[in-house]
Amino acid sequence: MAATWLKDTVFYEIYPQSFYDTNGDGIGDFNGIIEKLDYIKSLGCNALWINPCYDSPFKDAGYDVRDYKKVAPRYGTNNDLYRLFGEAHKRGIRVLLDLVPGHTSEEHEWFRQSQKDEKNEYTNRYIWTEFCFQGAGDLNYIGGESERSATYALNFFKCQPALNYGFLNPTEPWQLPIDHPDVLATREALKDIMRFWLSHGCDGFRVDMAASLVKHDDEKKTGTSAVWKDVRKMLDEEFPDAAMVAEWSEPPLALRAGYDMDFYLNIPGSGFASLMRDYPVYGKSDKKDNSYFKKDGDGDINRFLDQYMDWYEDTKDIGYISLITCNHDTNRARYTMEPDELKIAYSFLFTMPGVPFLYYGDEIGMRYLELKTKEGGYFRTGSRTPMQWTKGKNLGFSTGCEDSLYLPVDSAPDAPTVESEEANPDSLLNTVRKILALRHKEEDLQADAELKILCREKGKAFVFKRGNLTIAVNPSLKEVSAPVSVDGEVIYEIGKATLGSEIKLAPQTFVIVK
Ligand code: NOJ
Ligand code: CA
Repeated sequence: MAATWLKDTVFYEIYPQSFYDTNGDGIGDFNGIIEKLDYIKSLGCNALWINPCYDSPFKDAGYDVRDYKKVAPRYGTNNDLYRLFGEAHKRGIRVLLDLVPGHTSEEHEWFRQSQKDEKNEYTNRYIWTEFCFQGAGDLNYIGGESERSATYALNFFKCQPALNYGFLNPTEPWQLPIDHPDVLATREALKDIMRFWLSHGCDGFRVDMAASLVKHDDEKKTGTSAVWKDVRKMLDEEFPDAAMVAEWSEPPLALRAGYDMDFYLNIPGSGFASLMRDYPVYGKSDKKDNSYFKKDGDGDINRFLDQYMDWYEDTKDIGYISLITCNHDTNRARYTMEPDELKIAYSFLFTMPGVPFLYYGDEIGMRYLELKTKEGGYFRTGSRTPMQWTKGKNLGFSTGCEDSLYLPVDSAPDAPTVESEEANPDSLLNTVRKILALRHKEEDLQADAELKILCREKGKAFVFKRGNLTIAVNPSLKEVSAPVSVDGEVIYEIGKATLGSEIKLAPQTFVIVK
Protein backbone atom coordinates (compact mmCIF):
# COMPACT_ATOMS: atom_id res chain seq x y z
CA MET A 1 0.00 0.00 0.00
CA ALA A 2 1.11 3.43 -0.83
CA ALA A 3 3.01 5.72 1.56
CA THR A 4 0.39 7.09 3.96
CA TRP A 5 1.51 10.72 3.65
CA LEU A 6 0.25 10.73 0.07
CA LYS A 7 -3.37 10.76 1.25
CA ASP A 8 -3.36 14.54 1.50
CA THR A 9 -0.55 15.52 -0.83
CA VAL A 10 -0.46 17.90 -3.76
CA PHE A 11 2.80 18.07 -5.73
CA TYR A 12 4.49 21.04 -7.38
CA GLU A 13 6.83 20.17 -10.24
CA ILE A 14 9.92 22.36 -10.55
CA TYR A 15 12.11 22.54 -13.64
CA PRO A 16 15.11 23.87 -11.69
CA GLN A 17 16.70 25.70 -14.60
CA SER A 18 13.75 28.08 -14.78
CA PHE A 19 12.36 28.55 -11.31
CA TYR A 20 14.31 31.23 -9.46
CA ASP A 21 17.88 32.45 -9.89
CA THR A 22 19.54 33.84 -6.75
CA ASN A 23 23.09 34.53 -8.00
CA GLY A 24 22.32 36.37 -11.23
CA ASP A 25 23.87 33.82 -13.61
CA GLY A 26 20.57 33.47 -15.47
CA ILE A 27 19.79 29.97 -14.31
CA GLY A 28 17.60 28.78 -11.47
CA ASP A 29 19.26 27.26 -8.40
CA PHE A 30 18.65 25.35 -5.16
CA ASN A 31 18.80 28.54 -3.10
CA GLY A 32 16.08 29.91 -5.35
CA ILE A 33 13.84 26.95 -4.61
CA ILE A 34 14.52 27.39 -0.88
CA GLU A 35 13.55 31.07 -1.07
CA LYS A 36 10.26 30.19 -2.72
CA LEU A 37 9.21 27.35 -0.42
CA ASP A 38 6.82 29.61 1.48
CA TYR A 39 5.22 30.64 -1.80
CA ILE A 40 4.81 26.98 -2.79
CA LYS A 41 3.28 26.24 0.59
CA SER A 42 0.91 29.20 0.16
CA LEU A 43 -0.49 27.54 -2.96
CA GLY A 44 -1.47 24.47 -0.99
CA CYS A 45 1.29 22.28 -2.40
CA ASN A 46 3.05 20.15 0.19
CA ALA A 47 5.47 18.17 -1.96
CA LEU A 48 7.92 18.84 -4.77
CA TRP A 49 9.17 16.93 -7.75
CA ILE A 50 12.40 18.45 -9.01
CA ASN A 51 13.52 17.51 -12.54
CA PRO A 52 17.04 15.96 -12.75
CA CYS A 53 19.52 18.24 -11.03
CA TYR A 54 22.60 16.01 -11.29
CA ASP A 55 25.90 16.58 -13.03
CA SER A 56 25.22 16.33 -16.75
CA PRO A 57 26.33 17.60 -20.16
CA PHE A 58 22.65 18.68 -20.53
CA LYS A 59 21.99 17.29 -23.97
CA ASP A 60 18.56 16.28 -22.67
CA ALA A 61 18.05 18.90 -19.95
CA GLY A 62 19.68 16.66 -17.32
CA TYR A 63 18.00 13.38 -18.30
CA ASP A 64 21.50 12.48 -19.45
CA VAL A 65 23.11 11.92 -16.07
CA ARG A 66 26.90 12.01 -15.82
CA ASP A 67 27.11 11.45 -12.07
CA TYR A 68 24.07 10.28 -10.11
CA LYS A 69 25.47 11.29 -6.76
CA LYS A 70 26.68 14.78 -7.53
CA VAL A 71 24.46 17.73 -8.31
CA ALA A 72 25.11 19.99 -11.30
CA PRO A 73 27.27 22.90 -10.11
CA ARG A 74 24.98 25.35 -11.89
CA TYR A 75 22.29 24.62 -9.27
CA GLY A 76 24.61 24.68 -6.25
CA THR A 77 26.29 21.97 -4.21
CA ASN A 78 25.13 18.70 -2.71
CA ASN A 79 25.03 20.52 0.62
CA ASP A 80 22.67 23.12 -0.83
CA LEU A 81 20.34 20.32 -1.90
CA TYR A 82 20.52 18.69 1.54
CA ARG A 83 19.65 22.09 3.01
CA LEU A 84 16.72 22.29 0.61
CA PHE A 85 15.46 18.93 1.95
CA GLY A 86 15.73 20.27 5.51
CA GLU A 87 14.05 23.62 4.78
CA ALA A 88 11.25 21.86 2.92
CA HIS A 89 10.69 19.42 5.78
CA LYS A 90 10.51 22.29 8.27
CA ARG A 91 7.52 23.54 6.28
CA GLY A 92 5.87 20.13 5.92
CA ILE A 93 6.95 19.81 2.29
CA ARG A 94 8.35 16.51 0.95
CA VAL A 95 10.80 16.35 -1.91
CA LEU A 96 11.02 13.82 -4.74
CA LEU A 97 14.06 13.78 -6.98
CA ASP A 98 13.98 12.51 -10.55
CA LEU A 99 15.50 9.07 -10.97
CA VAL A 100 16.71 8.14 -14.43
CA PRO A 101 17.18 4.35 -14.30
CA GLY A 102 17.05 3.40 -17.99
CA HIS A 103 20.07 5.24 -19.34
CA THR A 104 22.98 7.48 -18.44
CA SER A 105 24.81 10.15 -20.34
CA GLU A 106 27.42 8.83 -22.76
CA GLU A 107 29.84 10.77 -20.52
CA HIS A 108 29.07 8.74 -17.39
CA GLU A 109 32.12 6.98 -15.98
CA TRP A 110 30.34 3.60 -16.21
CA PHE A 111 29.92 4.11 -19.93
CA ARG A 112 33.54 5.20 -20.43
CA GLN A 113 34.62 1.96 -18.78
CA SER A 114 32.05 -0.07 -20.73
CA GLN A 115 33.42 1.27 -24.03
CA LYS A 116 36.86 -0.17 -23.35
CA ASP A 117 38.18 -3.13 -25.28
CA GLU A 118 39.44 -4.88 -22.12
CA LYS A 119 36.77 -6.59 -20.09
CA ASN A 120 35.99 -4.86 -16.81
CA GLU A 121 33.31 -4.48 -14.15
CA TYR A 122 31.22 -2.28 -16.48
CA THR A 123 31.50 -4.28 -19.70
CA ASN A 124 27.89 -5.47 -19.41
CA ARG A 125 26.50 -2.42 -17.58
CA TYR A 126 25.06 -1.34 -20.97
CA ILE A 127 23.55 -3.35 -23.82
CA TRP A 128 26.25 -4.17 -26.38
CA THR A 129 26.17 -6.39 -29.46
CA GLU A 130 29.16 -8.56 -30.36
CA PHE A 131 30.56 -6.79 -33.39
CA CYS A 132 31.11 -3.27 -34.68
CA PHE A 133 28.77 -3.78 -37.68
CA GLN A 134 26.06 -5.70 -35.85
CA GLY A 135 22.62 -4.12 -35.40
CA ALA A 136 20.84 -4.39 -32.06
CA GLY A 137 17.67 -5.90 -33.51
CA ASP A 138 14.71 -3.58 -33.04
CA LEU A 139 16.60 -1.33 -30.61
CA ASN A 140 18.20 1.90 -31.79
CA TYR A 141 21.96 1.59 -31.65
CA ILE A 142 25.23 3.39 -32.26
CA GLY A 143 28.42 2.02 -33.77
CA GLY A 144 31.85 3.42 -34.52
CA GLU A 145 32.32 5.46 -31.37
CA SER A 146 34.13 3.03 -29.11
CA GLU A 147 37.39 1.22 -28.77
CA ARG A 148 35.31 -1.91 -28.22
CA SER A 149 34.30 -3.65 -31.45
CA ALA A 150 30.58 -3.67 -30.83
CA THR A 151 27.51 -1.44 -31.10
CA TYR A 152 25.45 -0.29 -28.14
CA ALA A 153 21.72 0.18 -27.68
CA LEU A 154 20.13 3.55 -26.96
CA ASN A 155 17.25 4.23 -24.61
CA PHE A 156 16.26 7.65 -25.94
CA PHE A 157 18.45 10.26 -27.66
CA LYS A 158 21.88 9.44 -29.08
CA CYS A 159 23.50 10.74 -25.87
CA GLN A 160 21.63 8.14 -23.73
CA PRO A 161 23.00 4.57 -23.92
CA ALA A 162 20.65 1.97 -22.43
CA LEU A 163 21.60 0.49 -19.09
CA ASN A 164 21.45 -3.29 -19.07
CA TYR A 165 18.56 -4.82 -17.13
CA GLY A 166 18.54 -7.82 -19.48
CA PHE A 167 16.07 -9.31 -21.94
CA LEU A 168 12.97 -11.19 -20.86
CA ASN A 169 13.56 -14.04 -23.33
CA PRO A 170 17.00 -13.66 -24.85
CA THR A 171 17.34 -14.94 -28.42
CA GLU A 172 20.89 -13.77 -29.20
CA PRO A 173 24.09 -14.45 -27.28
CA TRP A 174 24.60 -10.72 -26.58
CA GLN A 175 21.15 -10.50 -24.92
CA LEU A 176 21.60 -11.33 -21.25
CA PRO A 177 18.79 -12.83 -19.14
CA ILE A 178 17.31 -10.73 -16.35
CA ASP A 179 19.05 -12.80 -13.68
CA HIS A 180 22.54 -12.64 -15.17
CA PRO A 181 24.96 -11.48 -12.44
CA ASP A 182 26.10 -8.44 -14.48
CA VAL A 183 22.50 -7.44 -15.06
CA LEU A 184 21.69 -7.85 -11.38
CA ALA A 185 24.67 -5.60 -10.70
CA THR A 186 22.92 -2.81 -12.67
CA ARG A 187 19.89 -3.23 -10.41
CA GLU A 188 22.06 -3.06 -7.31
CA ALA A 189 23.74 0.09 -8.63
CA LEU A 190 20.28 1.64 -9.01
CA LYS A 191 19.38 0.76 -5.43
CA ASP A 192 22.66 2.22 -4.28
CA ILE A 193 21.80 5.58 -5.90
CA MET A 194 18.37 5.54 -4.29
CA ARG A 195 19.82 4.77 -0.87
CA PHE A 196 22.28 7.62 -1.28
CA TRP A 197 19.61 10.30 -1.79
CA LEU A 198 17.07 8.82 0.60
CA SER A 199 19.60 8.73 3.38
CA HIS A 200 20.39 12.40 2.70
CA GLY A 201 16.77 13.36 3.26
CA CYS A 202 14.98 13.00 -0.05
CA ASP A 203 11.47 11.51 0.24
CA GLY A 204 11.32 9.42 -2.90
CA PHE A 205 11.51 9.59 -6.67
CA ARG A 206 9.73 10.36 -9.86
CA VAL A 207 10.99 7.65 -12.16
CA ASP A 208 11.85 8.42 -15.74
CA MET A 209 10.65 5.96 -18.43
CA ALA A 210 9.86 3.45 -15.71
CA ALA A 211 8.60 0.84 -18.18
CA SER A 212 11.75 0.87 -20.29
CA LEU A 213 14.16 -1.30 -18.30
CA VAL A 214 13.93 -4.92 -19.45
CA LYS A 215 14.07 -5.26 -23.22
CA HIS A 216 11.71 -7.43 -25.27
CA ASP A 217 9.44 -7.49 -22.27
CA ASP A 218 5.96 -8.98 -22.61
CA GLU A 219 2.69 -7.03 -22.59
CA LYS A 220 2.39 -7.29 -18.84
CA LYS A 221 5.93 -5.98 -18.44
CA THR A 222 6.86 -9.04 -16.40
CA GLY A 223 10.59 -8.38 -16.57
CA THR A 224 10.52 -4.67 -15.78
CA SER A 225 7.96 -5.26 -13.02
CA ALA A 226 10.27 -7.80 -11.41
CA VAL A 227 12.95 -5.10 -11.16
CA TRP A 228 10.56 -2.63 -9.52
CA LYS A 229 9.15 -5.21 -7.11
CA ASP A 230 12.68 -5.93 -6.02
CA VAL A 231 13.34 -2.21 -5.56
CA ARG A 232 10.08 -1.88 -3.60
CA LYS A 233 11.18 -4.66 -1.29
CA MET A 234 14.37 -2.76 -0.52
CA LEU A 235 12.35 0.42 0.13
CA ASP A 236 9.86 -1.37 2.38
CA GLU A 237 12.72 -2.71 4.45
CA GLU A 238 14.96 0.35 4.54
CA PHE A 239 12.85 3.44 3.68
CA PRO A 240 9.21 2.51 4.26
CA ASP A 241 8.04 6.12 3.96
CA ALA A 242 9.60 6.70 0.53
CA ALA A 243 7.20 7.37 -2.32
CA MET A 244 7.62 6.50 -5.97
CA VAL A 245 5.75 7.92 -8.94
CA ALA A 246 6.18 6.31 -12.34
CA GLU A 247 6.40 7.84 -15.75
CA TRP A 248 4.59 4.84 -17.18
CA SER A 249 0.95 5.82 -17.72
CA GLU A 250 -0.42 2.35 -17.26
CA PRO A 251 -1.50 2.37 -13.62
CA PRO A 252 -2.69 -1.27 -13.53
CA LEU A 253 0.86 -2.35 -14.36
CA ALA A 254 2.86 0.36 -12.60
CA LEU A 255 0.98 0.17 -9.29
CA ARG A 256 1.19 -3.65 -9.25
CA ALA A 257 4.92 -3.34 -9.85
CA GLY A 258 5.20 -1.51 -6.53
CA TYR A 259 4.70 2.15 -7.42
CA ASP A 260 2.64 4.40 -5.15
CA MET A 261 1.53 6.57 -8.06
CA ASP A 262 1.52 6.54 -11.84
CA PHE A 263 1.03 9.57 -14.10
CA TYR A 264 -1.83 9.73 -16.55
CA LEU A 265 0.19 11.31 -19.36
CA ASN A 266 -0.67 13.45 -22.32
CA ILE A 267 -0.25 10.72 -24.91
CA PRO A 268 -1.99 11.97 -28.07
CA GLY A 269 -5.39 10.29 -28.35
CA SER A 270 -5.47 9.31 -24.66
CA GLY A 271 -8.35 10.16 -22.37
CA PHE A 272 -6.16 12.66 -20.54
CA ALA A 273 -5.30 14.47 -23.79
CA SER A 274 -9.04 14.88 -24.47
CA LEU A 275 -9.43 17.16 -21.43
CA MET A 276 -7.27 20.14 -22.41
CA ARG A 277 -5.15 19.14 -25.41
CA ASP A 278 -7.31 17.60 -28.08
CA TYR A 279 -5.06 18.70 -30.92
CA PRO A 280 -2.02 17.07 -32.54
CA VAL A 281 0.94 17.77 -30.25
CA TYR A 282 3.77 16.80 -32.57
CA GLY A 283 2.93 19.19 -35.38
CA LYS A 284 0.37 21.68 -36.43
CA SER A 285 -3.03 21.08 -37.94
CA ASP A 286 -6.30 22.89 -38.44
CA LYS A 287 -8.29 20.22 -36.62
CA LYS A 288 -10.90 21.81 -34.37
CA ASP A 289 -10.00 21.69 -30.70
CA ASN A 290 -12.64 19.55 -29.00
CA SER A 291 -11.04 19.47 -25.59
CA TYR A 292 -13.62 18.86 -22.90
CA PHE A 293 -12.66 22.01 -20.98
CA LYS A 294 -12.76 24.34 -24.03
CA LYS A 295 -15.84 26.48 -23.60
CA ASP A 296 -16.62 26.51 -27.33
CA GLY A 297 -15.58 22.91 -27.93
CA ASP A 298 -17.98 20.07 -28.34
CA GLY A 299 -16.25 18.15 -25.62
CA ASP A 300 -17.27 14.82 -24.18
CA ILE A 301 -16.07 13.74 -20.73
CA ASN A 302 -16.60 10.11 -21.73
CA ARG A 303 -13.40 10.10 -23.74
CA PHE A 304 -11.59 10.67 -20.45
CA LEU A 305 -13.82 8.51 -18.25
CA ASP A 306 -13.79 5.48 -20.57
CA GLN A 307 -10.09 5.00 -19.88
CA TYR A 308 -9.81 6.55 -16.43
CA MET A 309 -12.67 4.68 -14.75
CA ASP A 310 -11.37 1.26 -15.80
CA TRP A 311 -7.98 2.10 -14.34
CA TYR A 312 -9.52 3.66 -11.25
CA GLU A 313 -11.75 0.67 -10.45
CA ASP A 314 -8.86 -1.69 -11.05
CA THR A 315 -6.30 0.16 -8.92
CA LYS A 316 -8.10 2.18 -6.23
CA ASP A 317 -7.07 -0.24 -3.50
CA ILE A 318 -3.42 -0.50 -4.48
CA GLY A 319 -2.23 2.99 -5.37
CA TYR A 320 -2.90 6.31 -7.03
CA ILE A 321 -3.38 7.73 -10.49
CA SER A 322 -1.73 11.14 -10.74
CA LEU A 323 -3.43 13.80 -12.82
CA ILE A 324 -1.20 16.68 -13.89
CA THR A 325 -1.82 20.22 -15.09
CA CYS A 326 1.19 19.78 -17.38
CA ASN A 327 4.81 18.71 -17.21
CA HIS A 328 8.11 19.64 -18.82
CA ASP A 329 7.35 17.41 -21.85
CA THR A 330 3.88 18.74 -22.56
CA ASN A 331 2.50 21.95 -24.03
CA ARG A 332 1.19 24.16 -21.27
CA ALA A 333 -2.60 24.04 -21.24
CA ARG A 334 -2.60 27.83 -21.67
CA TYR A 335 -1.42 27.16 -25.26
CA THR A 336 -5.08 26.85 -26.23
CA MET A 337 -7.07 27.50 -23.07
CA GLU A 338 -8.09 30.80 -21.50
CA PRO A 339 -7.75 31.45 -17.75
CA ASP A 340 -11.55 31.12 -17.26
CA GLU A 341 -11.36 27.63 -18.79
CA LEU A 342 -8.33 26.72 -16.72
CA LYS A 343 -10.11 27.62 -13.47
CA ILE A 344 -12.72 24.95 -14.17
CA ALA A 345 -10.19 22.44 -15.50
CA TYR A 346 -7.91 22.76 -12.46
CA SER A 347 -10.84 22.62 -10.06
CA PHE A 348 -11.68 19.28 -11.64
CA LEU A 349 -8.10 17.93 -11.58
CA PHE A 350 -7.68 18.93 -7.93
CA THR A 351 -10.90 17.29 -6.75
CA MET A 352 -10.27 13.91 -8.34
CA PRO A 353 -8.93 10.88 -6.43
CA GLY A 354 -5.22 10.14 -6.37
CA VAL A 355 -2.33 12.55 -6.03
CA PRO A 356 -2.35 15.61 -8.32
CA PHE A 357 0.65 17.50 -9.71
CA LEU A 358 0.80 21.22 -10.51
CA TYR A 359 3.52 22.26 -12.98
CA TYR A 360 5.36 25.45 -11.97
CA GLY A 361 3.81 28.51 -13.58
CA ASP A 362 0.54 26.81 -14.43
CA GLU A 363 -0.97 28.41 -11.34
CA ILE A 364 -0.61 31.82 -13.01
CA GLY A 365 -1.49 30.57 -16.49
CA MET A 366 1.98 30.91 -18.00
CA ARG A 367 1.91 30.68 -21.77
CA TYR A 368 3.54 28.16 -24.04
CA LEU A 369 6.14 30.12 -26.03
CA GLU A 370 7.31 29.30 -29.55
CA LEU A 371 11.07 28.98 -29.08
CA LYS A 372 14.06 27.30 -30.65
CA THR A 373 15.17 24.12 -28.93
CA LYS A 374 17.29 24.28 -25.78
CA GLU A 375 19.07 21.31 -24.20
CA GLY A 376 17.21 18.76 -26.31
CA GLY A 377 13.84 20.27 -25.51
CA TYR A 378 12.55 20.77 -29.08
CA PHE A 379 8.80 21.53 -28.92
CA ARG A 380 8.97 21.04 -25.14
CA THR A 381 11.19 24.11 -24.76
CA GLY A 382 8.13 26.41 -24.91
CA SER A 383 6.88 24.95 -21.61
CA ARG A 384 10.21 25.42 -19.83
CA THR A 385 10.58 29.21 -19.71
CA PRO A 386 11.46 31.17 -16.55
CA MET A 387 8.87 31.52 -13.83
CA GLN A 388 7.19 34.92 -13.85
CA TRP A 389 7.33 36.44 -10.38
CA THR A 390 7.01 40.22 -10.72
CA LYS A 391 6.65 42.96 -13.33
CA GLY A 392 10.31 43.90 -12.73
CA LYS A 393 13.49 42.98 -14.60
CA ASN A 394 13.31 39.52 -16.22
CA LEU A 395 9.89 39.23 -14.56
CA GLY A 396 11.67 38.75 -11.27
CA PHE A 397 13.31 35.48 -12.31
CA SER A 398 16.91 36.72 -12.31
CA THR A 399 18.94 39.85 -11.77
CA GLY A 400 21.30 38.78 -14.58
CA CYS A 401 21.39 40.39 -17.99
CA GLU A 402 18.75 39.34 -20.49
CA ASP A 403 21.24 37.46 -22.67
CA SER A 404 22.34 35.27 -19.80
CA LEU A 405 18.89 33.82 -19.12
CA TYR A 406 18.44 30.08 -19.58
CA LEU A 407 15.47 30.86 -21.80
CA PRO A 408 13.79 34.20 -22.52
CA VAL A 409 10.94 35.27 -20.30
CA ASP A 410 7.49 35.87 -21.80
CA SER A 411 7.75 39.32 -23.39
CA ALA A 412 4.01 39.89 -23.79
CA PRO A 413 2.89 43.10 -22.05
CA ASP A 414 0.16 41.14 -20.26
CA ALA A 415 2.38 38.21 -19.27
CA PRO A 416 0.89 36.97 -15.99
CA THR A 417 3.04 37.18 -12.87
CA VAL A 418 2.64 36.04 -9.30
CA GLU A 419 2.57 39.70 -8.30
CA SER A 420 -0.28 40.64 -10.65
CA GLU A 421 -2.28 37.50 -9.90
CA GLU A 422 -1.97 37.95 -6.15
CA ALA A 423 -3.51 41.40 -6.46
CA ASN A 424 -6.63 40.02 -8.11
CA PRO A 425 -8.91 37.99 -5.80
CA ASP A 426 -10.51 36.32 -8.80
CA SER A 427 -7.25 35.31 -10.53
CA LEU A 428 -6.27 31.81 -11.57
CA LEU A 429 -3.63 31.83 -8.83
CA ASN A 430 -6.20 32.60 -6.15
CA THR A 431 -8.55 29.99 -7.61
CA VAL A 432 -5.79 27.40 -7.25
CA ARG A 433 -5.26 28.48 -3.64
CA LYS A 434 -8.98 28.21 -2.90
CA ILE A 435 -9.52 24.78 -4.36
CA LEU A 436 -6.35 23.35 -2.80
CA ALA A 437 -7.25 24.80 0.60
CA LEU A 438 -10.63 23.12 0.33
CA ARG A 439 -9.01 19.84 -0.69
CA HIS A 440 -6.87 19.90 2.45
CA LYS A 441 -9.93 20.73 4.58
CA GLU A 442 -12.31 18.10 3.18
CA GLU A 443 -11.09 14.53 3.43
CA ASP A 444 -13.63 13.62 0.76
CA LEU A 445 -11.64 15.63 -1.78
CA GLN A 446 -8.33 13.92 -1.00
CA ALA A 447 -6.66 10.88 -2.51
CA ASP A 448 -8.76 8.06 -1.10
CA ALA A 449 -12.45 9.04 -0.98
CA GLU A 450 -14.61 6.97 -3.31
CA LEU A 451 -15.40 8.38 -6.76
CA LYS A 452 -18.83 7.63 -8.18
CA ILE A 453 -20.15 9.04 -11.45
CA LEU A 454 -23.79 10.22 -11.38
CA CYS A 455 -24.17 11.70 -14.87
CA ARG A 456 -21.73 11.51 -17.78
CA GLU A 457 -24.09 11.95 -20.68
CA LYS A 458 -22.75 14.20 -23.45
CA GLY A 459 -24.58 17.55 -23.57
CA LYS A 460 -25.65 17.28 -19.91
CA ALA A 461 -23.98 18.39 -16.72
CA PHE A 462 -21.17 16.06 -15.64
CA VAL A 463 -21.96 15.12 -12.04
CA PHE A 464 -19.99 12.92 -9.68
CA LYS A 465 -19.54 12.15 -6.01
CA ARG A 466 -16.41 12.16 -3.93
CA GLY A 467 -17.39 10.51 -0.67
CA ASN A 468 -20.35 12.54 0.55
CA LEU A 469 -19.69 15.57 -1.63
CA THR A 470 -21.38 16.15 -4.98
CA ILE A 471 -19.46 17.90 -7.76
CA ALA A 472 -21.09 19.25 -10.90
CA VAL A 473 -19.25 20.55 -13.96
CA ASN A 474 -20.21 22.52 -17.05
CA PRO A 475 -17.26 23.91 -18.98
CA SER A 476 -19.41 24.98 -21.96
CA LEU A 477 -21.08 28.26 -22.88
CA LYS A 478 -24.49 26.59 -22.83
CA GLU A 479 -26.72 26.16 -19.82
CA VAL A 480 -27.02 22.46 -18.99
CA SER A 481 -28.80 20.22 -16.52
CA ALA A 482 -28.62 16.64 -15.29
CA PRO A 483 -31.37 14.32 -14.05
CA VAL A 484 -29.74 14.16 -10.64
CA SER A 485 -31.25 15.43 -7.42
CA VAL A 486 -28.72 17.56 -5.54
CA ASP A 487 -29.30 19.41 -2.29
CA GLY A 488 -27.11 20.83 0.40
CA GLU A 489 -24.67 23.66 0.96
CA VAL A 490 -22.56 24.95 -1.91
CA ILE A 491 -19.01 25.05 -0.54
CA TYR A 492 -17.18 26.01 -3.74
CA GLU A 493 -18.59 27.77 -6.75
CA ILE A 494 -17.42 29.03 -10.11
CA GLY A 495 -20.43 30.21 -12.14
CA LYS A 496 -23.89 29.39 -10.80
CA ALA A 497 -25.78 26.21 -9.97
CA THR A 498 -29.48 25.74 -9.24
CA LEU A 499 -29.94 22.78 -6.94
CA GLY A 500 -33.06 20.64 -6.66
CA SER A 501 -34.50 17.48 -8.13
CA GLU A 502 -32.70 18.27 -11.38
CA ILE A 503 -29.45 20.19 -11.05
CA LYS A 504 -29.03 23.11 -13.47
CA LEU A 505 -25.71 24.74 -14.28
CA ALA A 506 -25.17 28.15 -15.86
CA PRO A 507 -22.46 28.41 -18.54
CA GLN A 508 -18.93 27.72 -17.23
CA THR A 509 -19.88 26.39 -13.83
CA PHE A 510 -18.12 24.16 -11.35
CA VAL A 511 -19.69 23.54 -7.94
CA ILE A 512 -19.08 21.40 -4.90
CA VAL A 513 -22.11 20.67 -2.73
CA LYS A 514 -21.92 19.30 0.79
C1 NOJ B 1 11.08 11.41 -20.13
C2 NOJ B 1 11.44 12.77 -19.60
O1 NOJ B 1 10.33 13.34 -18.97
C3 NOJ B 1 11.94 13.55 -20.79
O2 NOJ B 1 12.08 14.91 -20.49
C4 NOJ B 1 13.24 12.94 -21.25
O3 NOJ B 1 13.66 13.59 -22.44
C5 NOJ B 1 13.07 11.44 -21.55
N1 NOJ B 1 12.28 10.75 -20.58
C6 NOJ B 1 14.40 10.74 -21.62
O4 NOJ B 1 14.96 10.60 -20.34
CA1 CA C 1 21.68 30.77 -10.52
